[in-house]
Amino acid sequence: MFLCLTGGSTALLMEHLSLRSLFLGLFLLNFQSQCLTVAKDVTKPNFVLMMVDDLGIGDIGCYGNDTIRTPHIDRLALDGVKLTQHIAAAPLCTPSRAAFHTGRYAVRSGFGSTGRVQVILFLGGSGGLPPNETTFAKLLQKQGYTTGLVGKWHLGVNCNSRNDHCHHPNHHGFHYFYGLPFTFFNDCKPGEGKDVLVDLQVALWQMSVLVGLGLLTLVPVRVSGLLRVGTGLLVLLAVLCTLGFTVWFVPFELLQRWNCIIMRNQQVVEQPMEAEELPEKLMKEAEQFVERNQNRPFLLFLSLAHVHTPLFISRDFVGKSRHGLYGDNVEEVDSMIGRMVKTIERLGLSEQTLMYFTSDHGGHIEDNQRGGWNGIYRGGKAMGGWEGGIRVPGIFSWPGRLPAGRVIGEPTSLMDIYPTLVKLAGGQLPQDRVLDGHDLMPLLEGKTRRSEHEFMFHYCGINLNAVRWHPANSDSIFKVHFFTPNFSPPGAGGCYHTKVCLCHGEFITHHDPPLVFDLSQDPSESVPLTPDTESRHAEVLQRVLRAVEEHRRTLRPVEPQLSWSNILWKPWLQPCCGTFPFCSCSENNTSINTL
Ligand SMILES: *[C@@H]1O[C@H](CO)[C@@H](O)[C@H](O)[C@H]1NC(C)=O
Ligand SMILES: *[C@@H]1O[C@H](CO)[C@@H](O)[C@H](O)[C@H]1NC(C)=O
Ligand SMILES: *[C@@H]1O[C@H](CO)[C@@H](O)[C@H](O)[C@H]1NC(C)=O
Ligand SMILES: *[C@@H]1O[C@H](CO)[C@@H](O)[C@H](O)[C@H]1NC(C)=O
Repeated sequence: MFLCLTGGSTALLMEHLSLRSLFLGLFLLNFQSQCLTVAKDVTKPNFVLMMVDDLGIGDIGCYGNDTIRTPHIDRLALDGVKLTQHIAAAPLCTPSRAAFHTGRYAVRSGFGSTGRVQVILFLGGSGGLPPNETTFAKLLQKQGYTTGLVGKWHLGVNCNSRNDHCHHPNHHGFHYFYGLPFTFFNDCKPGEGKDVLVDLQVALWQMSVLVGLGLLTLVPVRVSGLLRVGTGLLVLLAVLCTLGFTVWFVPFELLQRWNCIIMRNQQVVEQPMEAEELPEKLMKEAEQFVERNQNRPFLLFLSLAHVHTPLFISRDFVGKSRHGLYGDNVEEVDSMIGRMVKTIERLGLSEQTLMYFTSDHGGHIEDNQRGGWNGIYRGGKAMGGWEGGIRVPGIFSWPGRLPAGRVIGEPTSLMDIYPTLVKLAGGQLPQDRVLDGHDLMPLLEGKTRRSEHEFMFHYCGINLNAVRWHPANSDSIFKVHFFTPNFSPPGAGGCYHTKVCLCHGEFITHHDPPLVFDLSQDPSESVPLTPDTESRHAEVLQRVLRAVEEHRRTLRPVEPQLSWSNILWKPWLQPCCGTFPFCSCSENNTSINTL
């Protein structure tokens, strides 16, 4: 038994390293097969979490779409439990994922933005998931799990130097990482335009000037040592001109090279990355991870780059759907999910594996590539209050343990994954901080009918946008909006002028008294309740305001991760292979791999 445990932890260690010595590898393999029957801990289920980027709840067959074909996702729901009120903690990637990994509202870990920029914009910034946040992956490691993240991270890389990797998945509970430390966005695909960042151009410009000025302060020191003042001035002028050009050129032309990269653990292996090969590479990595860990408890977080714009698809899926490129993309996602499920089945792991499918937030309705459909729900990505921004698919499947075909309409959160997994793994939840998620198993297994979420707080950046109240002994789901985004043009269903809605200043309308809806009667939030139409109107406002006060008392001041100084591009933090700034490399063989 002792030997087996040693074998296990050596194996864990090996996740970090590539297979350096054949001897060690064989030794280990041999070791493992001997231990198999003893070491296999059937009480610890495997976890396969699958998250799609920007997928709308209305894009999927089992959530009501009758023209996009998603047979594999639908089957997962038929074989398991489908949640119909599954809520992302934030309407944008970075804060939603921060909350997902930590089980806490994003404001608690410093991801409550005060202004326009609500996501990490540069891989070379210093903001990211703080090292003292404890992810569920980290707690699973403590329970003997081998943990892997394949795909998108978007929670930062470095703090102070190019290689400290303080925010990297390897330092946040994942033994193995292959994928995008950043995200997939328009600049990753040449010729695609920059429309996602259009609203940020002014901000980007200011940022570049700041960088330029920062660099400029370095110049006179160097120059004065070499040249006299007159010549120095001329040089300075030339430098200024160059800088003027560079600050414009750099963010837009080199952005792709700098941000669109693939890392294997802490090594940059593809820069810039090839979009077309990405789906296949991610699937292969995910499959190999499961294969090499099939005999010990594992966690795999498969975090797809789909269906974020620019839309990219493997050749096989072009023109397959009835909804253009976007539909093709969703159908490719479905096939990827099917492939993952098949891998688990092929290895005979179905009954000891909890599989989960979700999206990080609602579909992006303003995108000119026509991406994302949020069904009957109002609004979409970047709208923290309207349901379309935060209500996402949520499917759990675990044959033999969870009932098949159950549908649950109670409010649940992506933050619930944290306590659910940690408990199933036999771990301890952190006692020194507030957690906002609840264990989902009682609900999923049908041991209780009520969600533990009486209140949910819906943030947009640092601003509390809306609150959901599910009163005890009632089916009502009241939602109270303190402000709503100003759609542009007025009357449109989204913020087409800025491409995404913003949640501060002149971009929003405050409501006093707040708007109240009952989602159980009006899921599309179309007609606000009044004291005349809803007898509990006053009670709802009172109770919610009290809950907000109580919630606010649990918040602590924390370093903002999305401040200018943290999101600013810092050349010395830029992950880069080859020669900076023209970083370039490609990993074009598959012989390399870990255990
Ligand atoms: C299905 O999805 C497509 C693409 O997002 C959308 O245009 C269509 O309206 C959806 N259909 C239904 C019934 O929701
Ligand atoms: C992490 O450290 C920061 C800065 O010291 C502190 O504000 C924050 O509360 C800490 N977070 C946790 C979860 O301990
Ligand atoms: C493989 O990568 C090397 C170096 O990274 C490069 O020189 C070579 O052209 C690549 N080959 C292919 C087929 O992409
Ligand atoms: C394959 O990749 C590995 C690791 O990146 C590298 O060491 C090796 O030289 C590559 N082989 C070929 C044939 O390119």
